[in-house]
This record gives sequence, C-alpha cells and structure tokens, in this order.
Amino acid sequence: MKKLILVLLIVSIWGTPIIAGAMPEMAPPDPLDNGPGEIDVSSYPKEMQDIYNNIFKDKCSNCHVLARPIGASYTTADEWKKVIKKMMGKPGSGIDPMSAKKISEFLIYDSSVRKGGGK
Ligand code: HEC
Repeated sequence: MKKLILVLLIVSIWGTPIIAGAMPEMAPPDPLDNGPGEIDVSSYPKEMQDIYNNIFKDKCSNCHVLARPIGASYTTADEWKKVIKKMMGKPGSGIDPMSAKKISEFLIYDSSVRKGGGK
C-alpha cells in the first residue's frame, strides 16, 4: 500500500509535465481572436474550399481560435510560409508537411482575394 502511494506521488509530480508536454501548446489570448472566425469561401475554387473545410479548419484551430490566422495581416507567400513553419514546430502541432503546403496555398489565395495581396 505504501508502495502504491509512493508510485502515485511520483506519477503526480513527474506525470504532469510529461502529460503537459504531449498536449498542444495553448496560445495566450490575442485581440485578433475576437475577429471573424470563418471565411466565406463560397466563391472560391473548389480546391480552395476543400482545403479550407477539410484541412485549415481542422489543423489551425487546435491551439487557438480560427480567428487568429483569419485576422492576421500577412499577405505574401513568404510571410505565410514562415508562420505555418513556426506553427508546425509547436509541440504537438499535428501539422504534416502535406497539410502545411495545402494550408499555405489556401492562405496565399485567400489573401489575394480578401486583402489584395498574395504575391
Ligand atoms: C500546436 C499548437 C498550434 C497549432 C496547431 C497552430 N498554432 Fe498558431 N499559434 C500557436 C501559439 C502558441 C501561438 C502564440 C505564440 C506565437 O505567436 O508563436 C500562435 C499564434 C499564431 C498566430 C499569431 C502570431 C503570428 O506569428 O502572427 C498566427 C497567425 C497563427 N498562430 C496561425 C496559425 C495557422 C495558420 C495554423 C495552422 C497551420 C496554426 N496557427 C496552428 C499555436 C498553434
């Protein structure tokens, strides 16, 4: 019984950071998070709609609301690639290279439509 208590104690002390380390890193709140949480993609090409609905919405809402990337001021391919690379590197991001590529294509296209950028 003493052994069990000891094991539980060790798990509770050491287990917390291990479990926390496996969880996606939570982003602190940002004023941008209060902006629109979705994009009207109804006029976008089908491929872009598919990336938005099946990849972007899924991968980019795990650690912060979708409003964060949607409200970001980035427009160029370079800027988006840099941000997505940073997000991929966050612990537990779950963003594979193929999804990252698709998401960057979507965000660059979306910037060209909504922000007149995307060069
Ligand atoms: C594993 C967790 C995680 C995932 C998944 C994630 N983010 Fe983030 N994101 C963060 C954290 C933490 C911050 C705040 C700290 C920072 O800026 O590095 C953040 C901040 C941001 C910011 C604002 C800061 C900046 O650099 O402009 C943008 C934009 C952003 N994320 C976009 C995205 C996009 C796009 C995706 C999907 C490809 C994504 N995030 C997926 C954790 C994540």
